[in-house]
Amino acid sequence: MKKTAFLILCTMMAVNCTAADGGTSVKLPSPDKKATMTLFEALQNRRSVREFSDKEISRETLSSLLWAATGVNRESGLLTAPTAVNAQDISVYVADKNGVSLYNPKENSLKTITKKDIRADLAERQKGMANAPVFLLLVSDISKFRWKDGTEKTFAAEDAGYVSQNIDLAVVALGLATVPRHMMDRDAVKKALGLSDTQLMMLNHPVGYPAEESSADKKKESGTKK
Ligand SMILES: Cc1cc2nc3c(=O)[nH]c(=O)nc-3n(C[C@H](O)[C@H](O)[C@H](O)COP(=O)(O)O)c2cc1C
Repeated sequence: MKKTAFLILCTMMAVNCTAADGGTSVKLPSPDKKATMTLFEALQNRRSVREFSDKEISRETLSSLLWAATGVNRESGLLTAPTAVNAQDISVYVADKNGVSLYNPKENSLKTITKKDIRADLAERQKGMANAPVFLLLVSDISKFRWKDGTEKTFAAEDAGYVSQNIDLAVVALGLATVPRHMMDRDAVKKALGLSDTQLMMLNHPVGYPAEESSADKKKESGTKK
C-alpha cells in the first residue's frame, strides 16, 4: 500500500500507525485556513508572551499552526515559508507532555521521535515556560546546502526566521501566544532527538493560550527601546 493511502486509512480508523521506516505516524486533521483576523490585525497584536495557561491545544488548531509555519501551499509541494535555494531545510518538531513528533508537511502528519517530555530542556533557564502545552522546535539540516564555508549557517538562520515569523503571526490569528526563543539546552535536546551534527537547533516557540499578562511582560513593553 502507498504510504499516503496508508496514512489516510489510519486517520479514518483513528489509530496510530507504524510507517514503513519504523516511526509511528499520525495524520493531522486538515488545517483550517480561514483566519478570522486580517494580516494587519495580526501584526498589530504580535508580541512575545512568556506565561501560558494550562489549556491544551486541539489537534485542529495544531494542524493549522503547523501548516502556517511551513506547510505545503502549492500543488508543486512548495511551502508557506520560503527557503534559500528552496532547500526546505527547516523541520518543525512538536514537543508536548507525551513526547516529541516531527511534522511532515507533505503528508500533514506527525511522526513520533521520542516519548520523552523534553519541555524542561527546551525551557532551560526560563523554567516557568516548561508548562507550555506545546513547544515547536525549528531545526535546520544544513547538509541540504552545497556551501560548506559558513554560508550554509547564514541560510539556516534566515530560513528559520521566516518560519518563526509565520508562527508568531499565526499564533495571534489562532488566539494563542508564543515567544521565539534561542535559549534551550542544546546538548540535552540533541541527544533526546538523536540529531546529527548537521541538524542545527535554531529557535523554539513555546505555544499555549496566554495566561494573564505578567507584570514582567507589561514592564518590558512599557520600557521597550525606541
Ligand atoms: C532570534 C530571537 C531569539 C530570542 N530568544 C529569546 C529567548 O531565548 N528567551 C526569551 O524570553 N525571548 C527571546 N526572544 C524574544 C525577544 O526577547 C523579544 O522579541 C523582544 O524582547 C521584543 O519583544 P516583542 O517580541 O514582544 O516585540 C528572542 C527573539 C528573537 C527574534
